[in-house]
Amino acid sequence: MRIDIISAVPQLLESPLNHSIIKRAKEKGVVEINIVNLHDYGKGKFRHIDDYGFGGDSGMVIMPEPLYNAITDLTERRKYDYVIYTSPDGEILDQPMANSLSCAENIIILCGHYKGIDHRIREHLITKEISIGNYVLSGGELAAAVITDAIVRLIPGAMSDETSALSDSFQDDLLAPPIYTRPADFRGWKVPEVLLSGNPKLIKEWQEAQALERTKRLRPDLLKK
Ligand code: ADE
Repeated sequence: MRIDIISAVPQLLESPLNHSIIKRAKEKGVVEINIVNLHDYGKGKFRHIDDYGFGGDSGMVIMPEPLYNAITDLTERRKYDYVIYTSPDGEILDQPMANSLSCAENIIILCGHYKGIDHRIREHLITKEISIGNYVLSGGELAAAVITDAIVRLIPGAMSDETSALSDSFQDDLLAPPIYTRPADFRGWKVPEVLLSGNPKLIKEWQEAQALERTKRLRPDLLKK
Protein backbone atom coordinates (compact mmCIF):
# COMPACT_ATOMS: atom_id res chain seq x y z
CA MET A 1 0.00 0.00 0.00
CA ARG A 2 1.07 3.58 -0.64
CA ILE A 3 -0.12 6.48 1.53
CA ASP A 4 0.58 10.07 0.45
CA ILE A 5 -0.04 12.64 3.17
CA ILE A 6 -0.31 16.29 2.12
CA SER A 7 0.43 18.66 4.97
CA ALA A 8 1.29 22.30 5.65
CA VAL A 9 3.23 21.23 8.77
CA PRO A 10 4.99 17.98 7.77
CA GLN A 11 7.24 18.14 10.86
CA LEU A 12 4.21 17.14 12.95
CA LEU A 13 4.11 13.78 11.15
CA GLU A 14 7.78 12.88 11.55
CA SER A 15 7.78 11.11 14.89
CA PRO A 16 4.42 9.28 14.76
CA LEU A 17 5.22 7.73 11.38
CA ASN A 18 8.83 6.74 12.04
CA HIS A 19 8.69 4.38 15.00
CA SER A 20 7.44 1.00 16.10
CA ILE A 21 5.05 -0.93 13.83
CA ILE A 22 4.86 1.74 11.11
CA LYS A 23 8.64 2.00 10.92
CA ARG A 24 8.99 -1.78 10.61
CA ALA A 25 6.18 -1.99 8.04
CA LYS A 26 8.00 0.62 5.93
CA GLU A 27 11.30 -1.23 6.26
CA LYS A 28 9.63 -4.51 5.22
CA GLY A 29 8.11 -2.81 2.16
CA VAL A 30 4.55 -3.48 3.38
CA VAL A 31 3.70 0.20 3.11
CA GLU A 32 5.24 3.26 1.48
CA ILE A 33 4.43 6.56 3.19
CA ASN A 34 5.22 9.76 1.31
CA ILE A 35 4.83 13.15 2.95
CA VAL A 36 4.09 16.08 0.62
CA ASN A 37 4.84 19.57 1.92
CA LEU A 38 1.96 21.77 0.77
CA HIS A 39 4.28 24.80 0.82
CA ASP A 40 6.15 23.26 -2.14
CA TYR A 41 3.00 24.15 -4.10
CA GLY A 42 2.62 27.58 -2.50
CA LYS A 43 2.43 30.84 -4.42
CA GLY A 44 5.15 33.44 -4.92
CA LYS A 45 8.53 33.90 -3.34
CA PHE A 46 7.20 33.05 0.13
CA ARG A 47 5.24 30.02 -1.11
CA HIS A 48 2.13 31.10 0.72
CA ILE A 49 -0.81 28.74 0.77
CA ASP A 50 -3.55 30.64 2.59
CA ASP A 51 -5.65 33.78 2.25
CA TYR A 52 -8.48 35.59 4.03
CA GLY A 53 -11.88 33.90 3.77
CA PHE A 54 -14.63 35.51 1.66
CA GLY A 55 -17.70 36.60 3.58
CA GLY A 56 -15.99 38.48 6.37
CA ASP A 57 -15.34 35.52 8.66
CA SER A 58 -12.11 35.78 10.60
CA GLY A 59 -9.40 33.23 9.96
CA MET A 60 -7.27 32.03 7.09
CA VAL A 61 -8.36 29.51 4.49
CA ILE A 62 -6.04 27.31 2.41
CA MET A 63 -6.29 28.43 -1.22
CA PRO A 64 -7.54 26.04 -3.90
CA GLU A 65 -4.56 26.31 -6.25
CA PRO A 66 -1.81 24.81 -4.04
CA LEU A 67 -4.23 22.05 -2.98
CA TYR A 68 -5.26 21.34 -6.58
CA ASN A 69 -1.64 21.20 -7.74
CA ALA A 70 -0.51 18.99 -4.85
CA ILE A 71 -3.36 16.52 -5.34
CA THR A 72 -3.25 16.35 -9.14
CA ASP A 73 0.53 15.95 -9.09
CA LEU A 74 -0.18 12.65 -7.32
CA THR A 75 -3.37 11.57 -9.11
CA GLU A 76 -1.76 12.08 -12.53
CA ARG A 77 0.89 9.51 -11.61
CA ARG A 78 -1.30 6.69 -10.25
CA LYS A 79 -4.87 5.78 -9.42
CA TYR A 80 -6.00 6.42 -5.83
CA ASP A 81 -8.74 4.47 -4.05
CA TYR A 82 -9.46 7.39 -1.70
CA VAL A 83 -8.60 11.08 -1.51
CA ILE A 84 -9.27 11.66 2.18
CA TYR A 85 -9.65 15.00 3.97
CA THR A 86 -9.26 15.05 7.76
CA SER A 87 -12.02 17.14 9.27
CA PRO A 88 -14.29 17.19 12.33
CA ASP A 89 -17.18 17.20 9.80
CA GLY A 90 -16.24 13.77 8.48
CA GLU A 91 -17.44 10.24 9.16
CA ILE A 92 -16.06 9.06 12.50
CA LEU A 93 -13.17 6.61 12.18
CA ASP A 94 -13.94 3.18 13.62
CA GLN A 95 -12.53 -0.32 13.26
CA PRO A 96 -14.71 -1.38 10.27
CA MET A 97 -13.61 1.77 8.42
CA ALA A 98 -9.94 1.06 9.24
CA ASN A 99 -10.42 -2.54 8.05
CA SER A 100 -11.86 -1.40 4.74
CA LEU A 101 -9.21 1.32 4.19
CA SER A 102 -6.47 -1.25 4.85
CA CYS A 103 -7.57 -3.11 1.68
CA ALA A 104 -6.80 -0.09 -0.54
CA GLU A 105 -3.82 0.10 -2.89
CA ASN A 106 -3.17 3.86 -2.82
CA ILE A 107 -4.54 6.55 -0.50
CA ILE A 108 -4.09 10.32 -0.28
CA ILE A 109 -4.71 12.00 3.09
CA LEU A 110 -5.00 15.77 2.99
CA CYS A 111 -4.54 17.42 6.38
CA GLY A 112 -6.71 20.44 7.08
CA HIS A 113 -5.17 23.53 8.66
CA TYR A 114 -6.01 27.07 9.73
CA LYS A 115 -9.78 27.53 9.40
CA GLY A 116 -9.97 24.89 6.73
CA ILE A 117 -9.56 24.48 3.00
CA ASP A 118 -11.42 26.14 0.14
CA HIS A 119 -14.71 24.26 -0.14
CA ARG A 120 -14.38 23.73 -3.90
CA ILE A 121 -11.55 21.25 -3.29
CA ARG A 122 -13.80 19.29 -0.94
CA GLU A 123 -16.54 19.24 -3.55
CA HIS A 124 -14.44 18.30 -6.55
CA LEU A 125 -11.36 16.37 -5.43
CA ILE A 126 -12.00 14.87 -1.99
CA THR A 127 -13.73 11.48 -2.04
CA LYS A 128 -13.93 10.80 1.72
CA GLU A 129 -13.88 13.00 4.84
CA ILE A 130 -12.81 11.39 8.11
CA SER A 131 -13.04 12.69 11.69
CA ILE A 132 -11.20 10.97 14.52
CA GLY A 133 -13.72 12.16 17.11
CA ASN A 134 -16.14 14.85 18.17
CA TYR A 135 -13.60 17.50 19.15
CA VAL A 136 -11.55 20.04 17.19
CA LEU A 137 -7.80 19.68 16.70
CA SER A 138 -5.52 22.54 15.63
CA GLY A 139 -4.74 20.76 12.38
CA GLY A 140 -5.32 17.50 10.57
CA GLU A 141 -1.81 16.07 11.02
CA LEU A 142 -2.49 14.20 14.25
CA ALA A 143 -5.71 12.85 12.74
CA ALA A 144 -3.76 11.72 9.64
CA ALA A 145 -1.24 9.96 11.90
CA VAL A 146 -4.06 8.19 13.79
CA ILE A 147 -5.75 7.09 10.55
CA THR A 148 -2.43 5.88 9.10
CA ASP A 149 -1.58 3.93 12.25
CA ALA A 150 -5.02 2.29 12.39
CA ILE A 151 -4.68 1.22 8.73
CA VAL A 152 -1.03 0.14 8.54
CA ARG A 153 -1.16 -2.26 11.51
CA LEU A 154 -3.91 -4.20 9.67
CA ILE A 155 -1.95 -4.75 6.45
CA PRO A 156 -0.81 -8.39 6.29
CA GLY A 157 2.88 -8.56 7.16
CA ALA A 158 2.93 -5.29 9.13
CA MET A 159 2.93 -7.06 12.47
CA SER A 160 5.11 -10.01 13.38
CA ASP A 161 2.10 -12.00 14.65
CA GLU A 162 -0.56 -11.51 11.99
CA THR A 163 -3.33 -12.81 14.19
CA SER A 164 -2.74 -10.18 16.84
CA ALA A 165 -4.48 -7.41 14.84
CA LEU A 166 -7.49 -9.71 14.52
CA SER A 167 -7.67 -10.18 18.29
CA ASP A 168 -7.67 -6.41 18.96
CA SER A 169 -10.49 -4.79 20.86
CA PHE A 170 -13.34 -3.81 18.46
CA GLN A 171 -12.57 -6.42 15.77
CA ASP A 172 -15.66 -8.37 16.87
CA ASP A 173 -17.35 -5.42 18.63
CA LEU A 174 -15.96 -6.73 21.93
CA LEU A 175 -13.26 -5.24 24.12
CA ALA A 176 -10.15 -7.39 24.52
CA PRO A 177 -9.84 -9.50 27.70
CA PRO A 178 -7.29 -8.46 30.38
CA ILE A 179 -3.67 -9.49 29.71
CA TYR A 180 -0.87 -10.29 32.16
CA THR A 181 2.82 -11.18 32.17
CA ARG A 182 5.36 -12.40 34.73
CA PRO A 183 5.57 -12.40 37.69
CA ALA A 184 2.39 -14.35 38.46
CA ASP A 185 2.33 -12.67 41.88
CA PHE A 186 3.33 -8.99 42.05
CA ARG A 187 3.11 -7.48 45.52
CA GLY A 188 0.31 -9.94 46.30
CA TRP A 189 -1.63 -8.92 43.14
CA LYS A 190 -2.21 -12.30 41.52
CA VAL A 191 -2.73 -13.27 37.88
CA PRO A 192 -6.07 -15.16 37.51
CA GLU A 193 -5.45 -18.82 38.30
CA VAL A 194 -7.01 -20.06 35.02
CA LEU A 195 -4.29 -18.38 32.93
CA LEU A 196 -1.66 -20.49 34.72
CA SER A 197 -3.63 -23.72 34.24
CA GLY A 198 -2.13 -24.62 30.86
CA ASN A 199 -5.63 -25.66 29.69
CA PRO A 200 -6.25 -23.84 26.35
CA LYS A 201 -10.01 -24.58 26.34
CA LEU A 202 -10.56 -23.19 29.84
CA ILE A 203 -8.37 -20.17 29.06
CA LYS A 204 -10.31 -19.39 25.86
CA GLU A 205 -13.65 -19.67 27.71
CA TRP A 206 -12.38 -17.35 30.45
CA GLN A 207 -11.09 -14.80 27.88
CA GLU A 208 -14.42 -14.81 26.01
CA ALA A 209 -16.40 -14.36 29.23
CA GLN A 210 -14.10 -11.52 30.31
CA ALA A 211 -14.39 -9.80 26.92
CA LEU A 212 -18.18 -9.94 27.15
CA GLU A 213 -18.30 -8.78 30.78
CA ARG A 214 -15.91 -5.85 30.14
CA THR A 215 -17.86 -4.79 27.04
CA LYS A 216 -21.19 -4.90 28.93
CA ARG A 217 -19.73 -2.86 31.78
CA LEU A 218 -17.49 -0.38 29.94
CA ARG A 219 -18.91 -0.08 26.40
CA PRO A 220 -22.52 -1.31 26.33
CA ASP A 221 -23.01 0.76 23.15
CA LEU A 222 -20.87 -1.80 21.25
CA LEU A 223 -23.22 -4.65 22.17
CA LYS A 224 -26.28 -2.73 20.99
CA LYS A 225 -24.81 -2.78 17.45
N1 ADE B 1 -9.16 18.36 12.21
C1 ADE B 1 -9.55 19.08 13.27
N2 ADE B 1 -10.25 18.33 14.13
C2 ADE B 1 -10.32 17.08 13.59
C3 ADE B 1 -10.94 15.87 13.99
N3 ADE B 1 -11.62 15.76 15.11
N4 ADE B 1 -10.80 14.81 13.18
C4 ADE B 1 -10.13 14.90 12.02
N5 ADE B 1 -9.54 16.02 11.59
C5 ADE B 1 -9.63 17.11 12.36
